Amino acid sequence: MIAKKIEDAFNAQINAEIYSSYLYLSMSGALEKMNLPGFASWMRVQAQEEMTHAMKFYDHIIERDGTVALAAIDGPPMKWKGVKAVIAETLEHEQKVTGLINDLMDLSMTENDHAGRMFLQWFVTEQVEEEATAMEILGKLEIAGDSAGGLYLLDKEMAGRVFTPPAAAE
Ligand code: FEO
Repeated sequence: MIAKKIEDAFNAQINAEIYSSYLYLSMSGALEKMNLPGFASWMRVQAQEEMTHAMKFYDHIIERDGTVALAAIDGPPMKWKGVKAVIAETLEHEQKVTGLINDLMDLSMTENDHAGRMFLQWFVTEQVEEEATAMEILGKLEIAGDSAGGLYLLDKEMAGRVFTPPAAAE
C-alpha cells in the first residue's frame, strides 16, 4: 500500500518525466531543423529514456496498489537560438529534475516510506549521470566553438547513442 501523500507526489513526477520527454522531443525536432541529425537523434533517444522514467513511477504506484492519476502535459518550447542553447537548457532542466527527485526523497524520509526511498535511490544516481552528460556535451560544444568542422564531427559522435531499454540498462 502507498500513502496518499506519496502517491500524489509520484503521480506528479510521472507528469514531470513525460514533460521531460516532450521537451526533448521538441528539441529533437528543432535540432533536425538546424541540420544536426546526430544531435537530433541523441535527443530523440533522451526523450525515449524519459518515458521509461515515467513508467518506473507508474509501475511503482501500481505495484503498491495505488492509483495512477495522469494529468495534462504542458506544451514545451519549440524554438532555440542554436545547439548550445538547446544543451544549456537540457542541463538546466536536468538540474530542476534533480531538485524534484531530492524533494521526493525528502518526503519519503519524513513519511517513513522505506519502499519509496529504496525506489528513489535509482533516480538519485540517474540524475548525477544526467547532469554529468549534459555538462560533458556542453564542454565539447565549447571546444568546437565556431568551427563548422568541429560541430560536424561532434554531430557524428552524437549519432552513436542508441536507446537501451531499462531492463537491460539496470
Ligand atoms: Fe528523468 Fe532526465 O530525468
